[in-house]
Amino acid sequence: MQSIDSLRRHGLFDARVPRYTSYPPANHFEDGFGPRHQTGWLAAVPRGGAVSVYVHIPFCKRLCWFCACRTQGTATLRPVDAYVAILLKEIETVRQTMPEGVRMGRLHLGGGTPTILSPDTMSRLLDALFAAFEPTADLEFSVEIDPTEASDNLLKLLIARGMNRASVGVQDFAEEVQKAIGRRQPLAQTRHVIDLMRAGGVASLNLDLLYGLPHQTAQSFGQTLRHVADMRPDRLAIYGYAHVPWMSKRQIMIKADTLLDNETRFALAQQAHDAFTARGYDSIGIDHYALPTDSLARAAASGRLRRNFQGYTDDPNETLIGLGASAISRFAGGYLQNATATSAYQDRVNQSGLAAHKGYGMSPQDRLIARIVEDLMCRFVFDEAGLRDSFPQEADLIHRTGISLMSRFSDVFYIGRGGLEMREHTRPLVRIIASHVDTFASETTAHSAAI
Ligand SMILES: C[S@@+](CC[C@H](N)C(=O)[O-])C[C@H]1O[C@@H](n2cnc3c(N)ncnc32)[C@H](O)[C@@H]1O
Ligand code: SF4
Repeated sequence: MQSIDSLRRHGLFDARVPRYTSYPPANHFEDGFGPRHQTGWLAAVPRGGAVSVYVHIPFCKRLCWFCACRTQGTATLRPVDAYVAILLKEIETVRQTMPEGVRMGRLHLGGGTPTILSPDTMSRLLDALFAAFEPTADLEFSVEIDPTEASDNLLKLLIARGMNRASVGVQDFAEEVQKAIGRRQPLAQTRHVIDLMRAGGVASLNLDLLYGLPHQTAQSFGQTLRHVADMRPDRLAIYGYAHVPWMSKRQIMIKADTLLDNETRFALAQQAHDAFTARGYDSIGIDHYALPTDSLARAAASGRLRRNFQGYTDDPNETLIGLGASAISRFAGGYLQNATATSAYQDRVNQSGLAAHKGYGMSPQDRLIARIVEDLMCRFVFDEAGLRDSFPQEADLIHRTGISLMSRFSDVFYIGRGGLEMREHTRPLVRIIASHVDTFASETTAHSAAI
């Protein structure tokens, strides 16, 4: 109880802070970036190096009411095929712009629903991707899968083409909850898809769950957690439902008065934590779980965990090439985001072959803040000595940030072997602490620039 009070005092139940899947968060990207930057940054990708590739498919046959992802509903495959034709153009331009010999260490198809593609269209897309980027011997190829929209044929094709990871959307198995969020998904159908992928040798399966949905109770959620743990996925992501109807209009179908209060949400998150750690999963960062044998758990145990737009990852590649509407790329120089609306994306690719419309150039100080935020989100530490080694020019800002953290969050941090370490029970505060660093460092650097 006492620890909940201290979390409440620090704003856990009131604060609105970014999820920090990147620093700066994507809503801070700026206008004034476009194909010119993209061409320069693509041309500077190290020859022979490995990159990660993300492909966004912004279409779904059904639009679940809870969903805040960038996607649109379609009853037919016509707009999907037209979109993939444009994607092929974008991939070809990227291929011509990059130096030769860039290899693909990771490929992730996300959405929306990538499995909406017909087998033929998927084959054409994969042919283009593998022609543009030679896969590394240990390529990790992952796909986001909605079990209600993934035909056996398509899954078999993906497996034959090397899919070795999959992320399956579950959210909740309780019928009343599924009805309230506009997503019917029978348990048997989910099991079928998982069994098919296991039988096909897909080595790592992730399941997504949500807490904070209408009608979730400790009892009903407990049942969902048992079903999920029985499926024995290698990884789990358990996100808090974000109700943002001003950004995602379909969420108006979910009535605000059916939403759970923040303390009930917190209790459900704790329940999931207890259930999965009791079934042998390691807790990873703030919202992931993984079997100790899984590479995410091994990365966390050896300090190699990273944060990216999919959440937590063990992806070591510095360059991420995002393809498709709204996809984000990360280069040594900064971030670029493609035009978000499908029509604007298509127009841009038709004009120049590339589609960036926003971005962010990283200054040395941005890199420092990004590293502090990532250390906090992944390892719950502020490692002053390590930061000084990597950013010797920023020793003063690093020192002042440490002092600010210790004075504002004296009950959260203790001085440990890794630097300032967060006490275990305070970990849910990590986004608030990252936001404090973000604000403190940005204000401090803005001041020094003005003097
Ligand atoms: C991009 S969606 C794709 C999932 C896939 N199309 C499916 O339906 O299974 C990936 C995940 O984002 C999460 N997500 C979507 N909307 C969310 C929201 N409003 N709040 C929190 N997480 C959300 C869900 O857990 C979902 O499985
Ligand atoms: S959860 Fe998946 S299927 Fe449902 S709307 Fe979002 S992306 Fe589409």
